Amino acid sequence: MVRELSVKPIVMKLGGSVITDKEKKLTPNLPAIERLANEISRANVLSLVLVHGGGSFGHPVAEQYGLNEGYKDSSQVMGFSITHQAMTKLNKLIVGSLINHNIPAVEVQPSSCVVTKAGRIQSMEEKPLKKMLEMEFVPVLYGDVVVDSEAGFAILSGDQIVSSLAITLDARRIVVGVDVDGLFTGDPKTDSSARLIQHITLEGLKNLEPLIEGSKVTDVTGGMLGKMFELKPAVEHGIPAIIVNATEPNRVYRALKGEKVVGTVIER
Ligand SMILES: Nc1ncnc2c1ncn2[C@@H]1O[C@H](COP(=O)(O)OP(=O)(O)OP(=O)(O)O)[C@@H](O)[C@H]1O
Ligand SMILES: [Mg+2]
Repeated sequence: MVRELSVKPIVMKLGGSVITDKEKKLTPNLPAIERLANEISRANVLSLVLVHGGGSFGHPVAEQYGLNEGYKDSSQVMGFSITHQAMTKLNKLIVGSLINHNIPAVEVQPSSCVVTKAGRIQSMEEKPLKKMLEMEFVPVLYGDVVVDSEAGFAILSGDQIVSSLAITLDARRIVVGVDVDGLFTGDPKTDSSARLIQHITLEGLKNLEPLIEGSKVTDVTGGMLGKMFELKPAVEHGIPAIIVNATEPNRVYRALKGEKVVGTVIER
């Protein structure tokens, strides 16, 4: 039996800052991956799309080959392959762990279904994804290298995928898991006076932007500032987003259940 997409999906990003050790190249955080798979399983969400970030599997490799500048010379072609392969390795760990927790997770490879134009999603094959949701699979996408109609190739952040998919699939809400409690008035890792913002509108975000920074570790897609930039169109569309600390047990669980949780709610 196949049901129509009657329930609006939740689109959740698992930050590379959570599922990997961003300070150590190609190092997964296996206990965090296991715990998150357990939380996702317990939350038992009907209609869920997962997107994970690159962390130390994506950013350092992409940077090494200068992939964020687009195609400049042929040496980058190997870099594209190597970066993509690193991402598929990380993806296998996530999908494997989800399956172990009885979640019907299926990898959806962005490099096979997306073309960007100057780094922005130009087209995305959405039919398989929609059908998978109807069939109650949990598609798992990730930040990836993709072909680009102008630049040859580009880095497509998990954050951009989240926002774009949320709009395409008319999501209920977006949940973004990172390694800090939410959006602060400054980078909480370097600014001890930074305060957590519990609720913010798009208007409020505009005023705050000068205070938001990238990431202190390598992040070719702009860290927290890039994330806010990407989330805006979905929030503008009427889809609320909540940013939670996915390194803290049960925050992702509560956010998925729609329960009250420490974090930042961004609403239109
Ligand atoms: N105003 C801010 N509020 C909260 N975090 C901030 C702020 N400014 C900068 N940051 C930094 O942003 C980081 C989160 O973004 P980052 O891109 O590093 O993680 P991620 O998106 O989970 O990783 P990936 O891109 O690999 O998925 C936090 O670790 C924090 O140090
Ligand atoms: Mg990031």
